[in-house]
Amino acid sequence: MCLEIRKLSIDDGCDIYEMLQELPADENGFINSVKGKTFDEYKEWLKNSLRNSEQTGLVNGWKVPETTFWLFENNTPVGFGKVRHFLTEALLENGGNVGYAIRPSARNRGLGKRFLALLIDAGKEIGLSKALLTIRNQNIPSIRVALANGGVIEKITADRHYIWINL
Ligand SMILES: CC(C)(COP(=O)(O)OP(=O)(O)OC[C@H]1O[C@@H](n2cnc3c(N)ncnc32)[C@H](O)[C@@H]1OP(=O)(O)O)[C@@H](O)C(=O)NCCC(=O)NCCS
Repeated sequence: MCLEIRKLSIDDGCDIYEMLQELPADENGFINSVKGKTFDEYKEWLKNSLRNSEQTGLVNGWKVPETTFWLFENNTPVGFGKVRHFLTEALLENGGNVGYAIRPSARNRGLGKRFLALLIDAGKEIGLSKALLTIRNQNIPSIRVALANGGVIEKITADRHYIWINL
């Protein structure tokens, strides 16, 4: 099996568009804003996302730079991941540095764990020394993915687990 991550590109095509239609718009707080968009709107979204990834400070006064990665298994896209380059007060509460989703048809085969490992490597390249994951308490698969990648639980509130990974 060949597993690799690729950075979002403005040349991304139908295979990724199709995955983004399979993934829900919001699942456990992981947002997929391409769900329901037309192909042309998706191509615009790719351009905006790439621009956002290339920023260095806050975008529009609130949004942090974020790089999107796709997980490919044997050249088929199976995962959507985001690495935020730094945190704000709001992201420390909800959002964290890293988010990920595996398309429903590819779940529960260990890909989530492998994807996070690859996103951690990407986070190091971006310059992160540690990464925060904020995970809803009922999201057991995601908590297991984080703990399997060296995550340390900082605190558990009524809503979320706050898990840090040293990179
Ligand atoms: C979280 C997510 C990425 C996990 O992906 P995955 O490829 O299914 O994960 P894995 O196969 O690596 O499994 C991770 C662990 O969760 C367990 N698991 C997977 N699906 C499960 C389910 N439906 N119920 C209970 N446990 C489950 C696995 O058994 C494994 O546990 P282990 O430690 O015993 O091996 C995927 O469920 C997903 O995309 N969820 C929606 C988006 C989301 O919640 N993202 C995280 C936001 S913080």
